[in-house]
Amino acid sequence: MTVPAHQQDLSAVPAQTVIPTPEREATVTSIDSAKEEVVLGATGRPLPKFPEPKALKAHGPAYVISMTNQKGGVGKTTTTINLGAALAEAGRRVLMVDMDPQGSLSIGLGVGQDELATIRTVYDMLMDPKAFPATAVVRATSIAGLDLLPANIHLSAAELRLAGEVAREYALDRALESVRENYDYVLIDCQPSLGLLTVNALTASNGVIIPMECEFFALRGVEMLRDTIGKVQERLNDKLSIDGVLATMVDSRTNHTRETIGAVLDMFGDAVFHTTVSRTVKFPETTKAGVSIIEQAPTSSGAVAYRNMAWELVQRLEKKGAVAH
Ligand SMILES: Nc1ncnc2c1ncn2[C@@H]1O[C@H](COP(=O)(O)OP(=O)(O)OP(=O)(O)O)[C@@H](O)[C@H]1O
Ligand SMILES: [Mg+2]
Repeated sequence: MTVPAHQQDLSAVPAQTVIPTPEREATVTSIDSAKEEVVLGATGRPLPKFPEPKALKAHGPAYVISMTNQKGGVGKTTTTINLGAALAEAGRRVLMVDMDPQGSLSIGLGVGQDELATIRTVYDMLMDPKAFPATAVVRATSIAGLDLLPANIHLSAAELRLAGEVAREYALDRALESVRENYDYVLIDCQPSLGLLTVNALTASNGVIIPMECEFFALRGVEMLRDTIGKVQERLNDKLSIDGVLATMVDSRTNHTRETIGAVLDMFGDAVFHTTVSRTVKFPETTKAGVSIIEQAPTSSGAVAYRNMAWELVQRLEKKGAVAH
């Protein structure tokens, strides 16, 4: 069995010799006739540069991020997998937490359906943390530096069972305590709902990333999401911040997409990532294959986009002093 990331000597992992430079869906616009030029990104704003994150001198404690949107199929799981793979590629130790009873993250990271039905999962960890601490549930993945706390359909029962417990919103936060020191990032993949499992994820997090599909109905329900985040900030976790809104499944050639991105910018301002992820058939293909696009097609536009997003996120968090340089 592969050794979990926190026990691996990452200095022994051969450095990638060539990491393709993020090419951006950019246009060059002259802003004045005095030759000064500004590069506009896919969101229509001037595009800053996102340097490759520097190697870390030490690891942990982890910065915890929930991928949240109660709308289904917007790219939460795809973003968790590929952001995690890109951060691991940049030498970060990453723990992924599957908080969705559908188990898509676990399956997307290569856990077989049959195996998933028999292994210890997040459900065990939440229900009986003494018998099944996170260290007993965590698994290595095929990606060096990236570990997984898997979930299966049993997790749907946790929502009901937790409802009757004291401090029910803090169950995940408590369970992650013992492993936080071992990782640089913990990424939590939420289910498409704002129920107790998602509230647990938000309570355990430093930040939220909201993936949004760029289509007409994308903005529906976002008020409710912001309201939930606000309530968690007020009542359960005042350190929680919105660390990014990611436009996914973008087709930048259409007016419709441009209008939707404009509306998302009006709503979230600077929280919107400059990086956007285009719609491409590669994602459904890699999802089926149980691998990340970063591994399977490292130079494809999808991999470049998620690598770029990871670099943008690291720069953002370094700037606000949330993660170590
Ligand atoms: N940029 C993209 N281009 C094309 N297809 C995509 C893209 N991103 C994700 N997909 C595909 O869209 C489907 C839904 O994506 P994903 O599972 O990541 O969404 P989700 O928000 O996690 O869904 P759920 O709410 O059910 O958990 C998957 O089949 C995935 O492969
Ligand atoms: Mg999902």
